[in-house]
Amino acid sequence: MNNQTDHFYNKFSFLYPLVDVFLKPQKKVLFDEINRLPEGNLLEIGVGNGAHFHLYKKHKVVGIDTSAAMLEIARKKCCENIKVFKMDGKALLFYDEEFDYVVLSHVIAVVDDPEQLLKEVLRVLKPQGQVFILNHFTPNNWLRHFDRAFGMISKFFHFKSVFCIDEITTIKKFILLKEVHFGLASYFKLLIYQKK
Ligand SMILES: C[S@@+](CC[C@H](N)C(=O)[O-])C[C@H]1O[C@@H](n2cnc3c(N)ncnc32)[C@H](O)[C@@H]1O
Repeated sequence: MNNQTDHFYNKFSFLYPLVDVFLKPQKKVLFDEINRLPEGNLLEIGVGNGAHFHLYKKHKVVGIDTSAAMLEIARKKCCENIKVFKMDGKALLFYDEEFDYVVLSHVIAVVDDPEQLLKEVLRVLKPQGQVFILNHFTPNNWLRHFDRAFGMISKFFHFKSVFCIDEITTIKKFILLKEVHFGLASYFKLLIYQKK
């Protein structure tokens, strides 16, 4: 858990719906993919204000987040198939191989230790379970200079502007099943991995 990140999200939880307007088209694609999957237990790490809870159509969902203020808003949007808990994605209080699917929507570059986050994802996923990672990814083109220049400012907003998934060694324990590109120069992507 990172207290400064929690403090940031607790303070600005009321502004998050504005960010979500911008993320809506990506989330539609994410949920088209998720709702095509067979039923199963799904864990969403960093659920935030639960803005997309209504998009889950058939899975049993457990949502966790470290920000009490975000969770308070999320709880109001909960329905029968969704439960939320205050928990750190880097130290999950779930058994090994408990989930069929894990969703990481704009959270992997927010947590202070993405390596530990993925280790926990790997642990709680069933064999052949899938993880959906929606995020920005620093590309190997001119855009990486913007990410670097934005580095100091992004710290203030508690995320890493320079983010390369291949630098997380645990990702090698997954097979990449699908890659969906969004926006300018494919800066945002949805990566779907399966546990080996
Ligand atoms: C950018 S928001 C994304 C919210 C939502 N997933 C979305 O796509 O709109 C990042 C969220 O991750 C949460 N978070 C940060 N570190 C976390 C951790 N270690 N474990 C669980 N949640 C965390 C923050 O509190 C925040 O609600």
